[in-house]
Amino acid sequence: MNGHPDLSAATAVAPAAGRAAVIAGVGSWVPPRIVTNEELTRYLDTSDEWIRSRTGIARRHVVDPGVGTAALAIEAGAAALKSAGGGDVDSVIVATATPERLCPATAPQVAAGLGLSGVAAHDVAAVCSGFVYALNSAAGQIATGTADRVLVIGADAFSTIVDPMDRQTAVIFADGAGAVVLRAGSASEPGALGPCVLGSDGELAELIMIPGGGSAQRSTGQLPGPDDLWFHMRGRDVYRYAVEHTSNAALAALDRAGWRPADVDCFIPHQANARICTAVGERIGIPADRVASNIERVGNTAAASIPLLIAESAATGAFDPGARILIAAFGGGLAWGATTFTWPGTLGFGD
Ligand code: UT7
Repeated sequence: MNGHPDLSAATAVAPAAGRAAVIAGVGSWVPPRIVTNEELTRYLDTSDEWIRSRTGIARRHVVDPGVGTAALAIEAGAAALKSAGGGDVDSVIVATATPERLCPATAPQVAAGLGLSGVAAHDVAAVCSGFVYALNSAAGQIATGTADRVLVIGADAFSTIVDPMDRQTAVIFADGAGAVVLRAGSASEPGALGPCVLGSDGELAELIMIPGGGSAQRSTGQLPGPDDLWFHMRGRDVYRYAVEHTSNAALAALDRAGWRPADVDCFIPHQANARICTAVGERIGIPADRVASNIERVGNTAAASIPLLIAESAATGAFDPGARILIAAFGGGLAWGATTFTWPGTLGFGD
């Protein structure tokens, strides 16, 4: 191959004619323990002022010792099933970069924890873009008739893989989970998911990675050393690609949906960094008051970030029935994705 591949054209997948995926429920969960910026300054060479001004983050939630991603996913999944009016699903998909173990997948454990043993269950590994990829997988299962209802969860316990002494990552990443229930319906009804736009660039894999513990290292006969198992990120380089690819994916998803930026009632970007979200909104022409954000309170929760913000916004009544919503994500892989949906407006919340 000559030079760098042309990545201007991302993969755009239109929903199959016939059965569309329609949002039937949403839910979220963050672990109760809150870590403030001030708490981080007690052992890291950083400051509340630096973190707020460079990332928009004031505090974040982190798991207690002994709590992994499955527990977060189960809480969010249960909340989404409840808001969908209960009932079973045929499939559980968990998007995560912090699985309970390298093998097997976390989704079967989550399904069993929700009393859904026996249903299809698999993980999606696309780091911060995992939730958009998982939505697309769920829509495919619905379109082909493999499933009538799918529980899609984005869940990450990033505090378990971030080196607490790495100030580039430890101040950003955090823990949480968000979930949606998708049901079979028609593309013209409120809540219908639009076409997904997905893309990747594995030539830049080294910008975000956990270097050890996988087959690349183990095939050499080496066991991982302590640093091999921490999450590594070249933040400044990632920043540039984040703005570019999130914006391009968002614009492509709008194009595929037949919407203009001015049609969007709410843009929900992956909460990577408040400055990235602002820059993407400006670049694609969506006014700041239509760009949703919760990064100040929850940090960057990776695969959980978009569904967590969808569920939190829905719970506060932020979406009118029929509201047009755009979501876009970017992260390790590199991988990115975006899609659109309208708001169904008939979901249940609370006790
Ligand atoms: O979730 C999807 C994937 N991840 C992302 O999209 C994250 C993308 N990257 C970022 O959000 C930002 O690059 C960071 C927040 C990671 C870093 O912010 P930045 O504005 O890009 O800072 P920088 O790396 O360019 O560093 C600027 C300065 C450096 O000091 P010098 O060399 O100018 O003296 C760093 O050493 O800030 C320093 N620095 C810090 N200072 C205080 C880096 N991290 C910290 C820190 N506290 N936590």
